[in-house]
Amino acid sequence: MSGEWKNKLYFGDNLEILREQIQTESVDLIYLDPPFNSQATYNILFAEKSGEQSAAQITAFEDTWHWGLEAEKAYHEVVTLGPRKLADLLQALRSFLGSNDMMAYLTMMAIRLDELHRVLKPTGSIYLHCDPTASHYLKLLMDAVFGYKNFLNEVVWYYRGAGTPKAARARRHDILLFYAKMKTMHFFDPDPIRQPYAEATVERFAHYIGNVRDGHDYGLQRLHPLGKHPDDVITHIQPIAPSAKARLGYPTQKPEELLEEIIKSSSREGDIVFDPFCGCGTTIAVAERLQRRWIGIDITHLAITLIKKRLQDTFGPELTPYAEIGAPEDYPSAEALATLNRHQFEWWALGLVEARPAQDKRKGPDTGIDGLIYFFDDQSGQAKKIVIQVKSGNVTVSQLRDLKGVMEREKAVIGVFITLKEPTKPMLQEAAAAGFYEPEYFPGRQFPRLQILSITDLLTGQEVQYPRVAPTATFKKAQRQPKGSDAKPQQNAIAWEDHNNEV
Ligand SMILES: C[S@@+](CC[C@H](N)C(=O)[O-])C[C@H]1O[C@@H](n2cnc3c(N)ncnc32)[C@H](O)[C@@H]1O
Repeated sequence: MSGEWKNKLYFGDNLEILREQIQTESVDLIYLDPPFNSQATYNILFAEKSGEQSAAQITAFEDTWHWGLEAEKAYHEVVTLGPRKLADLLQALRSFLGSNDMMAYLTMMAIRLDELHRVLKPTGSIYLHCDPTASHYLKLLMDAVFGYKNFLNEVVWYYRGAGTPKAARARRHDILLFYAKMKTMHFFDPDPIRQPYAEATVERFAHYIGNVRDGHDYGLQRLHPLGKHPDDVITHIQPIAPSAKARLGYPTQKPEELLEEIIKSSSREGDIVFDPFCGCGTTIAVAERLQRRWIGIDITHLAITLIKKRLQDTFGPELTPYAEIGAPEDYPSAEALATLNRHQFEWWALGLVEARPAQDKRKGPDTGIDGLIYFFDDQSGQAKKIVIQVKSGNVTVSQLRDLKGVMEREKAVIGVFITLKEPTKPMLQEAAAAGFYEPEYFPGRQFPRLQILSITDLLTGQEVQYPRVAPTATFKKAQRQPKGSDAKPQQNAIAWEDHNNEV
């Protein structure tokens, strides 16, 4: 591995980052699992706190790739400046589809796929994870960008599931479009992902099997000692069950076993694995475990916070140091984020104190809580609650009084007020007057009931003060895993839950 290299986790739009930060022909393997324009709002489910069933539903990201100015701009760029085949294809698709959401999605994908082609090494390969809603169009795009001659497989990931539509067969598969940058040069090793032979095959091969074709005897046929060559249908990997230990609460989290197959067969140790839509970081976590180098990008701070925590929980001190890029590092960049997108600022600020977002502001009335931390400080099994408010505008003492009201209503033992602007003197006095939380099991220990933390405080290492004895109950914890090619991924021992009585 090169001494200068650092694994990288980027916050931001992958198109911009690809263009500005990722060098031509620099990555060995790309896996992408872009959100499909399904009109759906994906909700992020955080760990349930003990004693309460309801989980906070926060919009992790919305598939908002609708036809609009941005799509029109990307379309014009590809048509005027992009590779000829891609430009021709996009124009044909537009005359077929019109200017609708599907066309917006395909345009936004086209411009990104072109960049991904640029950054892939000649020996590299790419897996585009999608489903049958758009896979047929995406395959055309991939043909236009990578060349149909470099098409390797349409891998079908077949899984169990619930729900049966009345008028059609149940949909039970995803598609992985697998292309090489150059089919004559790409790396592929089937050995780590060979499958056991069927019993009947083993039985048949227990006896002599001749191999005479066209009058020529090719000699004894043998089974490969490591198993059957992998074929293009994956049936032995299941989605992560909603209740499985491995589930971190990210709506579209993919199983580690799937990424393990891809990474083991299409890269070597030390290679650079790149996921430009990295979600809660499945690709990155597996790449880290399998001792590959990695680059991940996501556009939401929720994802970035989850990934950071997942890496820390999974690898602890064995985690290779990585660079986090694009997140605010100082007051001006925090202010810029707040101006650009208040929700992202809030998620980022909550991530700084390892709090989970409390509600989706775009849905339902504002409850006065932006974030929550749960912790245990006694033997009752009941988590204690910290409520958090995040402010990016001007702050006043009356907001602090409101927070006190919320604490009482929510039976929270501590309230935290995170503010971009420095607090006023009356605010500091109000906070001091709120007194202390004194946990029963920690005689003599006091924690301020009302804590004000400015962004500058947080960026210079200050933390929320509360009893930190056991792991907090805020996020689901990823299981600790050893590193190396033989290290096993998290098992999805629990089958997919059936929410539908029909089988
Ligand atoms: C389907 S999820 C990926 C899930 C991931 N494979 C996992 O196992 O967690 C898609 C992700 O793409 C991110 N995303 C959407 N548009 C993006 C963009 N333009 N740039 C970077 N990330 C983006 C979303 O925030 C979301 O986390």
